[in-house]
Amino acid sequence: CKVRHYKFNVVLKNTTRLCSSKPIVTVNGKFPGPTLYAREDDTVLVKVRNLVNHNVTIHWHGVRQIRTGWADGPAYITQCPILPGQSYVYNFTLTGQRGTLLWHAHVNWLRSTLHGAIVILPKLGVPYPFPKPNKELVIILGEWWKSDTEDVINEALKSGLAPNVSDAHTINGLPGTVSVANCSTQDVYKLPVESGKTYLLRIINAALNEELFFKIAGHLLTVVEVDASYVKPFKTDTILVAPGQTTNALLTTDQNSGKYTIVASTFMDSPVVAVDNLTATATLHYTGTLATTPTVLITPPPRNATQVANNFTKALKSLNSKKYPANVPLTVDHSLLFTVGLGINPCPSCKAGNGSRVVAAVNNVTFVMPTTALLQAHYFNTQGVFTTDFPGNPPQVYNYTATPAAASSQTTNGTKVYRLPFNSTVQVVLQDTGVIAPESHPIHLHGFNFFVVGSGVGNYDPKTDAGNFNLVDPVERNTIGVPTGGWVAFRFRADNPGVWFLHCHFEVHTTWGLKMAFLVDNGKGPNESLIPPPNDLPKC
Ligand code: C2O
Repeated sequence: CKVRHYKFNVVLKNTTRLCSSKPIVTVNGKFPGPTLYAREDDTVLVKVRNLVNHNVTIHWHGVRQIRTGWADGPAYITQCPILPGQSYVYNFTLTGQRGTLLWHAHVNWLRSTLHGAIVILPKLGVPYPFPKPNKELVIILGEWWKSDTEDVINEALKSGLAPNVSDAHTINGLPGTVSVANCSTQDVYKLPVESGKTYLLRIINAALNEELFFKIAGHLLTVVEVDASYVKPFKTDTILVAPGQTTNALLTTDQNSGKYTIVASTFMDSPVVAVDNLTATATLHYTGTLATTPTVLITPPPRNATQVANNFTKALKSLNSKKYPANVPLTVDHSLLFTVGLGINPCPSCKAGNGSRVVAAVNNVTFVMPTTALLQAHYFNTQGVFTTDFPGNPPQVYNYTATPAAASSQTTNGTKVYRLPFNSTVQVVLQDTGVIAPESHPIHLHGFNFFVVGSGVGNYDPKTDAGNFNLVDPVERNTIGVPTGGWVAFRFRADNPGVWFLHCHFEVHTTWGLKMAFLVDNGKGPNESLIPPPNDLPKC
């Protein structure tokens, strides 16, 4: 295994989209940012220099960070931010991991422009468990706001209302053919392909607040991996990818020539949520196609296409081969039920919100960000930063069901963690609530992969639902969509000591407090404790 060195200089870059320009925060002036390449078991050292007037951290989304929580990245959870003018070296090892992941800023809304791909190839000489592609391509889906995204969220927090939705979706940084008020552009990403070849598409959703459908006209895709875990290959015409999720799919270029539209469009089946109905387009461009050839178009699924989304998620199963077994915990030490949803809290200064603000909560607790990092407080035993009384079940008096009209929509505030002994097994059922409105939530857990053992609509019922769990080949991932008005259950083994963030990967919901953390204790063995913090770890 190798040690790979990367230099990430965080700099401003003036960028034009949708006929208007703004300075954006980038790594090395690139948007989307540079791809981090490595192989399984490599050690990666990324020196991040903050050259902008904004606090920065970078998270390596999906990298397990075994015993190296100091390199995980979420601000005030595992580290204090890198201040302007400062730098920090993220040092981690990709133990037993290969596939596609993403890196992104993990402070405020900076990840809207500060993100890129992580491509981890198998160890040298180890083949993929699917036919070798002729070529590999990274496809990053995103969102674009004409205004500064920090302003977008700050204004929303002041008013107590929801922030503005984005002005466009993007594919590899470009919105495609756009024709809106006072602007029509042809900023189209072109994917050049040759006929009769197989391409591995590494599709990443780096959008802030939108789950996305992804489709290519005239072509089927064979899904082979999600969130850097191999799955049983299956063919589909539509891929669903939530923020933070990744999907590897094989594309066979079985046409002779031509131009084919690629679309990325919103999936949100809650009727009351403000989302954009925008579609980003790109083109698959066969070499040798005449410029005059018309492009084959495709219609994206409607934004509320629940069935299309379900068909995709239901098809995902772990590869579970001899070489890549699904090690699902068969017994459970901690059985937890977490409600996820919104709430309304008093806010005397929120004029537009009529004295109240929208918040979000897990088990009715709206997480309050600490002013020093939880991991440091844990390691150095600093008192008063967090409490360990995060409820493992929803409070009795709280109507958490998937049906709207809860008795009270007010949440409690706290910086609470749930403590887990080393190597204990955990089952979490995430239950969407109808407080304000049921809505799907892509929930991400740092530090672990988990197995998605079940899901359903309505309220989770342990008596009937638990018996139907898939403990054989459930999909293994790091981010999972809780169905609108439904539930999802996952299991993992707490074999990674540290403090691990769990939150909705809709940035707006994270901001509103839909987050909590697990604190996993050290084990007793020689390689079962958190390593000491590096010397250059930023201080708060
Ligand atoms: Cu991709 Cu905590 O985030």
